[in-house]
Amino acid sequence: MAKKKMTILDFKKYKEEGRKFTYVTAYDYTTASIVNDSECEIILVGDSLGMIMLGYTTTVGVTVDDMVHHIRPVVKGAPDTFIVGDMPFGSYNASPEQAIMTANRILMETNCDCVKLEGGVVMAPTIRRMVDAGIPVMGHIGLTPQTSTSLGGFKVQGGTPESAAKLIADAKALEEAGVFSMVLECVPSVVGKAIQEALTIPVLGIGAGPNVDCQVLVTQDLLGMYGDFKPKFVKQFAHVREEMVRGLNQFHEETLSGEFPSPEYSFNKAVDIPKLY
Ligand code: KIV
Repeated sequence: MAKKKMTILDFKKYKEEGRKFTYVTAYDYTTASIVNDSECEIILVGDSLGMIMLGYTTTVGVTVDDMVHHIRPVVKGAPDTFIVGDMPFGSYNASPEQAIMTANRILMETNCDCVKLEGGVVMAPTIRRMVDAGIPVMGHIGLTPQTSTSLGGFKVQGGTPESAAKLIADAKALEEAGVFSMVLECVPSVVGKAIQEALTIPVLGIGAGPNVDCQVLVTQDLLGMYGDFKPKFVKQFAHVREEMVRGLNQFHEETLSGEFPSPEYSFNKAVDIPKLY
């Protein structure tokens, strides 16, 4: 049975019903179509594509053109899945006008379902303006990879009473500004629970423990495809990288031995070839 695409209204409804859901990344048509065949409800075309697909060391070099280029095929590949387009660094931090123009472009050129941007209290006025302009916005607080340098690297956030209180203030400010849900990344489980309880909108946790409304993971991490590093919060539910290397090596071996391509994989029609050589 084809799954039913989630709508913005379902986010709050799922939270009210205590129904958990899942959120994964895709950056291309084939992966999107695989996620679409699964029960996972949401796809993020994240700026993590900088690291996962482009081999950058951070997400900072990703451009709006890159995002549009990758969101389009995902939208085509996953018609039954709610699709989030990430706003990359430098595309919304100059002014609310810049944020609205970038979000308009992403939504209009890709047909994704909403945009996501990083930041707490400081970004709330910009988010308010975007929401007032009719843009569906998903927030992202906690570890915010675009500004990880200012945070001292990819580190757990909210580990002291003060920083936990600041994160709760960030979460409340974003909810008041009108986001319909928010990613909470890399915080102690107790902080995830406190924020989940403090909000009426769903908390989408990545490394935020079990007491949030939705679990988020990068698909290439959870399937064991990305080889550079594995954050503590990533469980590998499959080992696709190993299987891909195995398949590639078998192709190589069978080519060298002549086993491939056998008649089964060849066009076997007899043709009288004129002697031209
Ligand atoms: O870009 C991304 O993949 C993200 C996730 C870490 C939530 O923002």
